[in-house]
Amino acid sequence: MTDNNKPDIQHGNELLRDERYNKGTAFTESERQELNIEGLLPPVIEDIDKQLKRVLFQLDNKKNDLERYILLTNLLDRNETLFFKTLMSDPKRFVPIMYDPTVGEACLKFSEIYRDKSGMYVTSNNKGKMSDVLKNWPEKDIRFICVSSGGRILGLGDLGANGMGIPLGKLQLYTACAAIPPYGLLPVLFDFGTDNETLLNDPFYIGLRQHRPSTDVIDELVEEFTESVKSVFPQCCIHFEDWKGADALRILKKYKNKICCYNDDIQGTSAVVLAGIMGALKIKGGNLKDQRILIFGAGSAGIGIADMLSAAIQAEGKTENEAVSQISLFDINGLIVKSRTDLNEYQKVFAHDVSSSKDLNEVISDFKPSILIGVSTVGKAFTETIVKTMSRINERPVIFALSNPTDHAECSAQDAYTWSDGKVIFAAGIPFDPVTYNGNTYCPSQANNYYCFPGVSLGIYATQPKLVTDQMWIEACKALAEMLTDDEKNKGMVLPPQNDILDISFNIGVRVAETAFAAGLAQVKQPEDLRSWISDMLYKPEYK
Ligand code: NAI
Repeated sequence: MTDNNKPDIQHGNELLRDERYNKGTAFTESERQELNIEGLLPPVIEDIDKQLKRVLFQLDNKKNDLERYILLTNLLDRNETLFFKTLMSDPKRFVPIMYDPTVGEACLKFSEIYRDKSGMYVTSNNKGKMSDVLKNWPEKDIRFICVSSGGRILGLGDLGANGMGIPLGKLQLYTACAAIPPYGLLPVLFDFGTDNETLLNDPFYIGLRQHRPSTDVIDELVEEFTESVKSVFPQCCIHFEDWKGADALRILKKYKNKICCYNDDIQGTSAVVLAGIMGALKIKGGNLKDQRILIFGAGSAGIGIADMLSAAIQAEGKTENEAVSQISLFDINGLIVKSRTDLNEYQKVFAHDVSSSKDLNEVISDFKPSILIGVSTVGKAFTETIVKTMSRINERPVIFALSNPTDHAECSAQDAYTWSDGKVIFAAGIPFDPVTYNGNTYCPSQANNYYCFPGVSLGIYATQPKLVTDQMWIEACKALAEMLTDDEKNKGMVLPPQNDILDISFNIGVRVAETAFAAGLAQVKQPEDLRSWISDMLYKPEYK
């Protein structure tokens, strides 16, 4: 793997334009002489901490997060080390700037703010020569490709090639949140075309001006892509991100047990939810295998959560039939039941032989869930009646209102605590401020995806497993839930604080690596001391 050592050939302006090796004002007097950059920099010599202070000052002077995103992206183009020094100085602050929600706005304007340096664009026109295209990427030791089709960008729908902001941002979080070295990370936008007419008519649009092809054509292209990745980058794990729901589920099902890959929208989301449930059980007591779970919303997030919970319940000793019987889903047409004719193959797995109903409150009264999860995109769907029914059935109801942005949340934290008379164990997809009710202060957790996928990726990076299994995600969730302190549980938190993300990811990485070795899936030699072995691999944002 390429490292941060200074290359022999880089001199003068060429060196200053190479973001990997450029140190800007941190070049010493003697380096400036030796490398022919005297006079190309101002006379001041600063260390990276001083440079960081200037970046933070510049960020404070920007009007909004999109401007901060552009400033940081420009910094990445000039000086990778200082960019990651900035992100890793406070991941909790910078993730919302480099990723959700700002990246959504950046994707909407991606064609306007387009810059030369980004990831790779693989298109349907590359059919038959994808290996050759992948070989054009300058780095040869690629460990992760994050690939989006731009088909469903956050809650913004089909953004075609503008979706490149997503793999770019997601891979930055690998480094910012888990200290995975940035050198072997390749962002890819798979451009099949777009059905977004506004983009097709935008004179600045950077993607293919064609509509998306049929499922068969997509599948054929994806097959060539995965085969090409295997041959060009044999140590690479493919991370699928922000594909259209049906494409995402179908592609994951096809490749999950075939190649080293994962889908964060499906598996990462469900892992964070599972970790949150494990955290909630640490507060209310009880085992996962005894819970009854109702999922409001049966799209890619809802199905992914149902699948992961089913796997985790089975891992606690229940049969598949028993696990499935404890999970129910509800979508725009009501409860998912056997008699419905509009269900897809993934929903059918959770269709029970009960009467249909479009009344959520009635379903809660009948099914008696201990846990209610909202992934419906329907703001305020969990009304006072719903929360009160959950509180009547359960001593400590668990309610996760995960839809975002803010106006899509199924319920606010304030309403959940008030309507349940402080009984609820609550988490959301968006950050909510602490709520004081009846003299107690509750701190709702945010089920942010970055709790899991960076740490899981660290375990994958270390062990290069043949496959990424459900068991790895389940162990990641356990590691995450184990980090909750008594004080945090007393405040109603189901996940540890976000500012500990680098430690969290490290612990998850170690657990995933242990799981990979135990399952015989790791393709590297098992070290004696796993923790220090992984610790030695971590990226440090320091100049060499
Ligand atoms: P999707 O569009 O694939 O699925 C939405 C589902 O909600 C569909 O099954 C639909 O039938 C159902 N639905 C829509 N209107 C409804 C209604 N009035 N009543 C009942 N069901 C209704 O969307 P996806 O990708 O599954 O995401 C859903 C939501 O979950 C989004 O708001 C997303 O932001 C959020 N989410 C949160 C995450 C987190 O907090 N970590 C991670 C992933 C998604």
